[in-house]
Amino acid sequence: MRVEPLTCSIGAELIGVKLADAVHDAALFDEIKKELIRHRVLFLRDQDFSRAEHVAFARRFGELEDHPVVGSDPEHPGLVRIYKSPDSPPDRYENAWHTDATWREKPPFGCVLRCVECPPVGGDTMWANMVLAYEQLPDHVKTQIEDLRARHSIESTFGAAMPIEKRLALKAQYPDAEHPVVRTHPDTGEKVLFVNGFTTHFTNFHTPDRIRYGQDANPGGALLLSYLISQAYIPEHQVRWRWKKNSVAIWDNRSTQHYAVMDYPPCVRQMERAGIVGEKVF
Ligand code: SIN
Repeated sequence: MRVEPLTCSIGAELIGVKLADAVHDAALFDEIKKELIRHRVLFLRDQDFSRAEHVAFARRFGELEDHPVVGSDPEHPGLVRIYKSPDSPPDRYENAWHTDATWREKPPFGCVLRCVECPPVGGDTMWANMVLAYEQLPDHVKTQIEDLRARHSIESTFGAAMPIEKRLALKAQYPDAEHPVVRTHPDTGEKVLFVNGFTTHFTNFHTPDRIRYGQDANPGGALLLSYLISQAYIPEHQVRWRWKKNSVAIWDNRSTQHYAVMDYPPCVRQMERAGIVGEKVF
């Protein structure tokens, strides 16, 4: 297996590997997982595997989960279909910087995403390294956010365009989750800046050391949150991947954000994503 970094900060391409082999080869799987933790997102070309093999490979990392709004392949639970065509409803959630499903109490460990069909040009995906984003923050900001916690919501994102009854039912099933703004990566101990497009507000910003008058709370908290979320937009933190049919990306959802560039309509783009159950955030 050859490992070729794609940038100085995030992402590497694995060459000479068939992921289907790693379903039964524990040593190969361990090597891939080690590279995943190191580079945060791995890319492979020409992975012409079956859906069953896709699921079986992702299952080596842990249990898979479906998505409450985006449907899965009926024969392969856990394999979410992100299919876009000129007839798709306007539900464009992937073209915002986000970490998958942080509205869950236990956000996903990571994902294995395969391109089934891609547009002739466009439709790239970008990832950002949120450990680097944390490291590069000015010291006074690190101090300011040390103990902050924040809410993450499916209601205000996937639920926003739903009729109110449906939106409230979604929220009842998936109540907002609260996570630390700076999490500790469970495998490496690194600090990760953990706010993204699903984050709505800080829950403990309104304290006497930060707020002179109640008036300070909203602009102060909202501006800081927006500044923190925008750290993913910095090109030096990013890698951008051009898809081809049967290209695969595997990412560590605990230390990255991603953005699917929506520059291809009216072309077709079909992706299949196996999302791996994660753990509580500390
Ligand atoms: C996602 O946002 O999880 C999907 C990314 C993509 O379709 O490129």
